[in-house]
Amino acid sequence: MRFDIPASFRRFLVTGGAGFIGSHVVDRLLVHPGVERVTVVDEFNDYYDPRTKWNNIAGHLIHPAYRLVTADIRDRDRLARLAREEKFDCVIHLAARAGVRPSLSEARLYHEVNTGGTLNLLELARDFQWKHFIFASSSSVYGPVAMPPFREDAPLMPVSPYAATKAAGELLVHSFSHLYGIRAVCLRFFTVYGPRQRPDLAIHKFSRAILEGRPVPMFGDGSTLRDYTYIDDILQGIGGAMRYSANGATSFEVVNLGESQCVTLSRLLAVIEAAAGRKAIIDRQPEQPGDLPLTHADISKARRLFGYRPTTAIETGVERFVEWLRAGEIRAIAA
Ligand SMILES: NC(=O)c1ccc[n+]([C@@H]2O[C@H](COP(=O)([O-])OP(=O)(O)OC[C@H]3O[C@@H](n4cnc5c(N)ncnc54)[C@H](O)[C@@H]3O)[C@@H](O)[C@H]2O)c1
Repeated sequence: MRFDIPASFRRFLVTGGAGFIGSHVVDRLLVHPGVERVTVVDEFNDYYDPRTKWNNIAGHLIHPAYRLVTADIRDRDRLARLAREEKFDCVIHLAARAGVRPSLSEARLYHEVNTGGTLNLLELARDFQWKHFIFASSSSVYGPVAMPPFREDAPLMPVSPYAATKAAGELLVHSFSHLYGIRAVCLRFFTVYGPRQRPDLAIHKFSRAILEGRPVPMFGDGSTLRDYTYIDDILQGIGGAMRYSANGATSFEVVNLGESQCVTLSRLLAVIEAAAGRKAIIDRQPEQPGDLPLTHADISKARRLFGYRPTTAIETGVERFVEWLRAGEIRAIAA
């Protein structure tokens, strides 16, 4: 499927473009006939195996419109040099330390990368007149007391350093948009899954364990609810955000991107078992601090502003994911 993006968007900066969501964004940009240049900044850190990230971008490296800059978004001088070399119409800022649980012990790192890195990019957007800024925020900003379904105007009560950095990032984006006329959309992603999903996320961890016959660590009693969003639906929303940024009535918006289909952890396990054709061996563990009992997106704003229509049912998405995981194992055995 192709991105339906504005004709004036030709030169892109994608931070975190070697990661799960970023590499899918780049896939779509590179097949778009109107796109002249896609520059990716990624530092290939070892939050998970960097070889996975190199695999994600294997098909990008040979594309003439693609440029890879292996750099840290904390390195302002390197980013400034890049900004002098390339002109960007649109920045899709996805690079971040992305896990909730590790952020408890590494709060400072999360702050420096997620808040500091975002500030670096916003200062460059101001200095080099990058007009459009799409920021990857998270459902975690709502916290555990928000009333479901979560609406964008609910008060934010983050309960992990990760979530706090995403809330801070949104506020920085708002300030820079207001002060310097940068047109910006903050997208609150609700648990994204699909091929290339990060290995630390539940669907990936559970599916792999079930396929390998290992115990599945289940935190809590299985009643926690998550709004799972398939990657194709997220990409549809990112395309919508770009169109809105180009033509929308306002210059700053915060928009939920969810599937709006909540699934309990127990039901998710049953769906994965069905896709894998095997039963899970459950290893019950206590609930983890910082985790939310429930996420549920109100997507009426995304529908209204972007025409967003998520279409992937959890059964279909999990089946595609398990197929991808199996294909990877077959490739690994063949190598
Ligand atoms: N996957 C989800 O369910 C989800 C949900 C909500 C929000 N998000 C947000 O979406 C974005 C992408 O998430 P993802 O799941 O694709 O994660 P990911 O870890 O697969 O991708 C992030 C990429 O950013 C890169 N990166 C990290 N720190 C960097 C730095 N200092 N400099 C340069 N590059 C750096 C990493 O190497 C990685 O390739 C993140 O901002 C994340 O917080 C993701």
